[in-house]
Amino acid sequence: MTKPRVIVTRRWPHEVEARLATEFSVTLNEADRPFGQKELREALLEADAVLPTVTDRLGADLFEGGVRAKILGNFGVGFNHIDIEAARLGGLVVTNTPAVLTDATADLAMTLLLMCARRAGEGEREVRTGGWAGWRPTHLCGTQVTGKTIGIIGMGRIGQAMARRCHFGFGMDVVFFDSYPVADPGMRARQLATVEDVLAAADFVSLHCPGGGENYNLINQQRLACMKPSAFLINTARGDVVDEEALVQALDEGVLAGAGLDVFKTEPAVPTTLTGRQDVVLLPHLGSATSETRVAMGMRVIDNLLAFFDGRRPPDAVN
Ligand code: DGY
Repeated sequence: MTKPRVIVTRRWPHEVEARLATEFSVTLNEADRPFGQKELREALLEADAVLPTVTDRLGADLFEGGVRAKILGNFGVGFNHIDIEAARLGGLVVTNTPAVLTDATADLAMTLLLMCARRAGEGEREVRTGGWAGWRPTHLCGTQVTGKTIGIIGMGRIGQAMARRCHFGFGMDVVFFDSYPVADPGMRARQLATVEDVLAAADFVSLHCPGGGENYNLINQQRLACMKPSAFLINTARGDVVDEEALVQALDEGVLAGAGLDVFKTEPAVPTTLTGRQDVVLLPHLGSATSETRVAMGMRVIDNLLAFFDGRRPPDAVN
């Protein structure tokens, strides 16, 4: 029996690529160069399955006129870079990789929170550039984390994992907003009625909602104005959830104290209005970047493909 033809748009961990090669007739991207729109279209025309990542924009135009591919196995949980409805109309199933990256992403959100609070980025830069003049009582004093209030926007798997770290690790109170009622997540966490309520109550706000759609610029000028001047904003969700210009202006005006950002609107370009600041911690979209997690993500994509080509509904189909 001929094996399904599969095209992978980026380099994946070698264990996963090795398994792909045994299960499918696979074309890997050994150069790891991001695909352009033309290459994506060609991949959709040539392969039975295309395996994209967040760096591939798959808009409706790519599915126009029909394609050969029947499944998009996205390497990642977020899929706002894919026009899901257009894919569905084009006859494609789209799958993602939920659950396997929950802990890694929550760990990174916690990293950003601690780095912001304790001015770790500033301190690290000072040591590396030879600017450290020695210990003194007033040097780089940050903000206490223990006992503060964490506000979670989007209380799904990752939001809850972040809340657990904050509550059980740092004795923090938890408030959260979610568009849906969330069955008691424990931790005496309180679901508040609006995003604004959470922003006003929290010392640290951590974003864990999907990007795109109604969440585009969710954290805008009006909502930033609800935050405490001493509070910090953490974003490991998607860059487009935050109006970056409004954030810079709010930081300039002392509306909030700082921000920790792992995701940006126009990745990998990060505005100089952010890179030039000391009061922000900036990371290059590292949320799920542990070796264990990236292997698990890849294996999850393969499990979805195997189910699909076996005639079953893939466990992580999103459309
Ligand atoms: C995810 O899984 O959504 C990561 O952000 C990479 O896309």
